[in-house]
Amino acid sequence: MFNMVDLTDKKILITGASSGMGAETARLCSKLGAKIVMAARREEKLIEVEKTLEGSGHKYYVFDLSNVEQIEHFIKQIVSECGALDGFVHSAGIGSTRPLKLLKPNVLKAVMDVNYFSFVEIIRSITKRNCYNSGLSIVGISSIASQQGNQTKTAYSASKAAMDATVRCLAKELHRNKIRVNTVNPALINTDIYQEFLDNSGDSEDAKIIMSRQYMGLGEPIDVSNMIAYLLSDAAKFITGSNIVLDGGRLSS
Ligand SMILES: NC(=O)c1ccc[n+]([C@@H]2O[C@H](COP(=O)([O-])OP(=O)(O)OC[C@H]3O[C@@H](n4cnc5c(N)ncnc54)[C@H](OP(=O)(O)O)[C@@H]3O)[C@@H](O)[C@H]2O)c1
Repeated sequence: MFNMVDLTDKKILITGASSGMGAETARLCSKLGAKIVMAARREEKLIEVEKTLEGSGHKYYVFDLSNVEQIEHFIKQIVSECGALDGFVHSAGIGSTRPLKLLKPNVLKAVMDVNYFSFVEIIRSITKRNCYNSGLSIVGISSIASQQGNQTKTAYSASKAAMDATVRCLAKELHRNKIRVNTVNPALINTDIYQEFLDNSGDSEDAKIIMSRQYMGLGEPIDVSNMIAYLLSDAAKFITGSNIVLDGGRLSS
């Protein structure tokens, strides 16, 4: 049967693959034929996710992306052990809830390190000669927070806006090398980060307004993974430099 989103034998690096949307994307891409290279800090979770992947030849690496200076070396190790990459998904990310008076440079830096600086440093490292195959597709998980402001969310929103701006610039810079770069922008999705949001502000008026505006309800990780798999595939060969909103209607209401 014809399969529009065919990832057969594509080698795809997924950061944040130990849970949530990263884990779901790993599972879906493996079903579509890809070989998955997972990276995150919690080894026990990576082992659990690995057991749920289809096919063989998958691999995981325990790595803390806060160590931005070590990323270039880390990518070299991955490429030497797994071969050149066909896809990269940046699902690693941390939330942050801080009013301005507590928003010191070290707080901003901690969020930017994982959500943004590591994204750019991985792209810089994998786009070196022999590290990728022609047709490389890069997808960052941004957020609608890049477009919609909310009190105490400055660091998180800024990190996601930086991802969106970056793909617009890098798409143009890298298209001659046959590399595409996009972000997806989910609204609230049912993962650990959503649980964190509920714990911090679930009872607040703001949270009620957010959920009423997201009139299709809470998204599931697969809703986002479906779009990521499509962007990784050759079916999306005309899409680059885009920020694709997946928000259950939220931004339009
Ligand atoms: N859920 C939502 O409502 C929502 C909405 C819009 C955007 N997003 C974005 O979607 C992405 C995925 O989040 P999720 O919702 O799937 O939540 P999640 O389950 O908490 O996933 C976050 C992932 O990031 C990894 N991570 C965090 N810090 C890391 C570090 N220092 N080094 C390496 N890996 C690190 C975590 O793995 P380890 O802890 O094992 O390291 C985990 O696998 C994030 O970028 C998030 O901002 C989420």
